Amino acid sequence: MNEVIQSILTRRSVRSFQEKQISDEALNDILEAAKYAPSGMGKQDWHFLAVQNKEIIKKLATAAKEVMMTFPIEHFKKIGSNPAYDPFYGAPTIIISAYEKESASGASNCAAALENMFLAAHSMDIGSCWIHILAFAGNDEKVRSILTELGLPENYEISGTAAVGFNSKEAPKAAPRKEGTVTIVK
Ligand SMILES: Cc1cc2nc3c(=O)[nH]c(=O)nc-3n(C[C@H](O)[C@H](O)[C@H](O)COP(=O)(O)O)c2cc1C
Repeated sequence: MNEVIQSILTRRSVRSFQEKQISDEALNDILEAAKYAPSGMGKQDWHFLAVQNKEIIKKLATAAKEVMMTFPIEHFKKIGSNPAYDPFYGAPTIIISAYEKESASGASNCAAALENMFLAAHSMDIGSCWIHILAFAGNDEKVRSILTELGLPENYEISGTAAVGFNSKEAPKAAPRKEGTVTIVK
């Protein structure tokens, strides 16, 4: 098995991070990997907003949790109202992957970019996790005003966020792969 495939198979979602920040070089490599993802018609109609400020990450988490509590789903209400719950798991870096509202394939392009980021991080022994909360809370007035202030263009929708940092615990083992998810026709 070659190194790339080995890396794909060993990447895991990390949900516990050290406070130590990743280097600027590592951040730039991760963002460069995002920018080289495939995009529909090669449009690259995405925007990546990297935040490395602890207070701002906390502010976003708090605003997003408030949205979570308005959801008619008991589970969301419960975790949203838990003061100890941090949707970004204490990651020192978050990278928001967003696409132009009008884009025909924006959400897919951003998903490809997110996976590129996860794999780039993993290749440097940096942990990461897809965080979805801003995908459904990103248009809330309070959350949006924070994002706009940070420089996210207003006509961009959020696909997902990468929480990035050094693991503080060993990542869990991969779940067994489901049977019957592949068909090969020759
Ligand atoms: C679209 C999407 C949304 C996700 N949202 C979250 C999330 O909000 N919080 C979280 O902890 N993990 C989230 N994950 C990570 C999944 O839970 C994780 O990929 C899955 O459990 C498989 O584990 P692995 O990534 O280690 O293989 C998300 C993954 C995807 C693809």
